[in-house]
Amino acid sequence: MHLSCKRSTSIIAVLAASLGLAAPSMLCQRTTSTKQAELKETSSVEPWWKHAVIYEIYPRSFQDSNGDGVGDLKGINSRLDYLKSLGIDAIWITPMYPSPQVDFGYDISNYEAVDPQYGTLNDMTRLIDHAKQREIRVVLDMVLNHTSDQHSWFLQAASSRTNPKHDWYVWSDGKSGTGPGSHEGRVPPNNWVSLFGGSAWEWVPAVHEYYYHEFYKQQPDLNWRNPAVEGAMFSTMRFWLDRGVAGFRLDAIPSLFEDIQLRDEAELGGTSAQGDPILARNYTDNLPEDHDVIRRLRAMIASYPGDRVLIGETYMPNTMELDKWYGGAAHDELQLAMDMLVGFSSKLDASTLRKYIDEAETELHGSQPLFVFNNHDNPRAIDRYGYGVHNEEIAKLLATILLTTQSTALMYQGEEIGMVTTPPARLQDVKDPIGISGWPKEKGRDGERTPMQWDDSANAGFSGANVNPWLPIPQSYKDHNVKVEASEPNSILNWYKQMIELRRTNPAIRDGLNIMLNADNPNVLSWLRQSPGQPAVVVVCNLTDQEQKISFDLSAQGIASKQVRTLMKTPGNVDPLSLDAVQLLPFSVYVGQAE
Ligand code: GLC
Repeated sequence: MHLSCKRSTSIIAVLAASLGLAAPSMLCQRTTSTKQAELKETSSVEPWWKHAVIYEIYPRSFQDSNGDGVGDLKGINSRLDYLKSLGIDAIWITPMYPSPQVDFGYDISNYEAVDPQYGTLNDMTRLIDHAKQREIRVVLDMVLNHTSDQHSWFLQAASSRTNPKHDWYVWSDGKSGTGPGSHEGRVPPNNWVSLFGGSAWEWVPAVHEYYYHEFYKQQPDLNWRNPAVEGAMFSTMRFWLDRGVAGFRLDAIPSLFEDIQLRDEAELGGTSAQGDPILARNYTDNLPEDHDVIRRLRAMIASYPGDRVLIGETYMPNTMELDKWYGGAAHDELQLAMDMLVGFSSKLDASTLRKYIDEAETELHGSQPLFVFNNHDNPRAIDRYGYGVHNEEIAKLLATILLTTQSTALMYQGEEIGMVTTPPARLQDVKDPIGISGWPKEKGRDGERTPMQWDDSANAGFSGANVNPWLPIPQSYKDHNVKVEASEPNSILNWYKQMIELRRTNPAIRDGLNIMLNADNPNVLSWLRQSPGQPAVVVVCNLTDQEQKISFDLSAQGIASKQVRTLMKTPGNVDPLSLDAVQLLPFSVYVGQAE
């Protein structure tokens, strides 16, 4: 689901609609490479995250170490060797802080501790330490937009108007009115709706005011116009930076500020799964003030050694909007802003993907793109891009896009073994509250949060055999699990491992420019990675269910020879004799070095 351009009926539908607005451009190969080369000259020594593969861990569903059916930090610790063998550079752990778990951790009641369900602070420091021994960095999730309504700040804020914490949240007297939703002759101040359904305003009798919540009502928004809020949140981040975390994934970062006048949003037409009108989000999202905070945050983390990183949850309608979160030409905001265009266009359409990949390389003022196809909020990419018949090939194809462009790669647990979205079949099984309020139109996010499939034993090795995991294990665990796939040379898991290794060791794939090839081909997406003094690499993806034959002329890139040597290919594809005739089976991939 998306949450910043936000899930309404189906966030994917909303995203697809917004993506569809942008017409694919014809790419000029020379312009692209020249522009990238200029941008590259301005970059200095490269920080660790530039070439990294970052792996998202949803701790509830990764590995249960104590048999309570919920994953935990000791469980993550026990799987570090697996993560090392996969070749990743960092893990991002979604919130593991104390929380009533209404939004499964995104409702934090204490930012400087660990939820007992997941372990202790000691477990966390041990995990950071053990990961470091394996050269794996730990990135934490930081929820700045809101706290839990059980956080002591909110409990104080909601106790009286004169409490010093009162102004830490966003309050309004509302307007006079009667009828449904009115309290003491007052109604909410405007038409804003929560992304999770219903009015975004909740009445608190003790203070005779409404507070604003972009998400669940148990997640009151902090008032970022109060400098004390910034002081407190920066201090919690220092707490973790001092304990060695490598940076933060900033949750819902475009939502920090709201319009000071609390103006009504325009209705865009249609209703959400929860029955709310779909609104513009001009007054609750992407306000200029958000950027001031990020700039100060960037300066704060820069005072720590080791290239600490700020990663933003940035669902944006186009690359130009995305660039703003990097600070544009000033490069003084996020180092990595999640690009949800390539990975969430959800259609194997060559011109759309080509356009987005190319723009990410050329329209971000040289900032580093961060592609992502999967996370804990959206149906898995294998299902969104898959056609059912060729899903294994499509999973490998998506992994190729993720891992062989210039982008930093963000992956989500389970994508490397081809885990599929498994939504609950019955309302009574739904755990995610939006799946309950939105059923059956919106089944919630349980389907992409099912436990990691480690082996083919009962409970897939996630929990002990006699345990009831918090979400059921999908049937696919029997043949899609780490153990089975590790022993199958052509598995999705081995494809990921080999691609990550290639990305790490091949100089052109690691450092080279990314030049889109054959830009008018509607069926085959291909690009060249080219680094001075190094053999160039062509990456070719057949996006159709038909065999394709394609030829390349690389003379514009200074490559006269047509000889090519296979680096990787989907099983079944033949080694081409020359770049004049590269033949591809349906949805297959070819990666070759121009000789
Ligand atoms: C982000 C998280 C999502 C959460 C929301 C509210 O979008 O990824 O899981 O529900 O923020 O914190």
